[in-house]
Amino acid sequence: DTAYLNGRFLPLQEAQVPVLDRGFLFGDAVYEVIPVYDGRAYALADHIQRLGSSLRGIGLTDPLGPDGWTALVTDLIARNGNGDMAVYLQITRGAPPRRDHRPASATGPATVVGFCQTRPPVAASLLEQGVAAVVRDDTRWAHCDIKSTALLANVLLAGDAQANDANEAILVRDGRVTEGASSNVFAVSGSTLITPPLEAAILPGITRARVLALARRAAVTVAERPIPVAELHAADEIWLTSSTREIFPVTRLDGTPVGPGRPGPLWTRMRALLQADTHD
Ligand code: PDD
Repeated sequence: DTAYLNGRFLPLQEAQVPVLDRGFLFGDAVYEVIPVYDGRAYALADHIQRLGSSLRGIGLTDPLGPDGWTALVTDLIARNGNGDMAVYLQITRGAPPRRDHRPASATGPATVVGFCQTRPPVAASLLEQGVAAVVRDDTRWAHCDIKSTALLANVLLAGDAQANDANEAILVRDGRVTEGASSNVFAVSGSTLITPPLEAAILPGITRARVLALARRAAVTVAERPIPVAELHAADEIWLTSSTREIFPVTRLDGTPVGPGRPGPLWTRMRALLQADTHD
């Protein structure tokens, strides 16, 4: 596994960051996860654009720029065998000589890391049966549109879901669904596809945007509007989307079947459209 660290390529196991790095000390960092199909990065320009927004969101100068990121991602994929994988990128505010909360204390270069991981294979049984999800309070901060590595709330929510035999925690703020702990959420009510609107409380998911575009192109009725938690419990279908999970059916919510308790017809259709798009 070949990784990238601050301008050079090296084996992932040898890539090390100092203890004083602000990513380690404060989670003062942003990241991206880009899915790769048969050596081709999917929606790469969208991921690079979102990385730029995240960097601006924390006041960090983009160390590489769009062309630099494109070249780096392409190079990492090639050095890791051009197969199916996910590229992880992270930029931290660097490693100054002292621990100091104030970001202006970091005057040196940012830390730039990139590596590849195999995408977790999506088990056929999970796709046939769907997965379980639990509803939880959204305990995260108010800037979830920034793809920050400060993921402690998400991590604890993922643990809570796992401890309850669920694959994801679906988060609720002020009585409305925001997103999953590491995914976006869609609900189907009758023939309408609904997903919460973009605002600071959710990540503008790249998969979310692609699924919306594919649904509109297929003349599916789409609504980007708030989903009250009661409406989620009454939904005919629920899906999760992310770069690693693609589009996943949720068939049990808080222990109760979603609709008939099987992946629904609109999910089947949208999954086929997304698969065609990723393998285009
Ligand atoms: N997570 N919402 C949250 C909170 C996420 O962490 C993610 C993705 C998404 C989906 O975004 P996208 O479709 O762009 O992957 C939504 C990545 C995969 C992760 O942290 O591993």
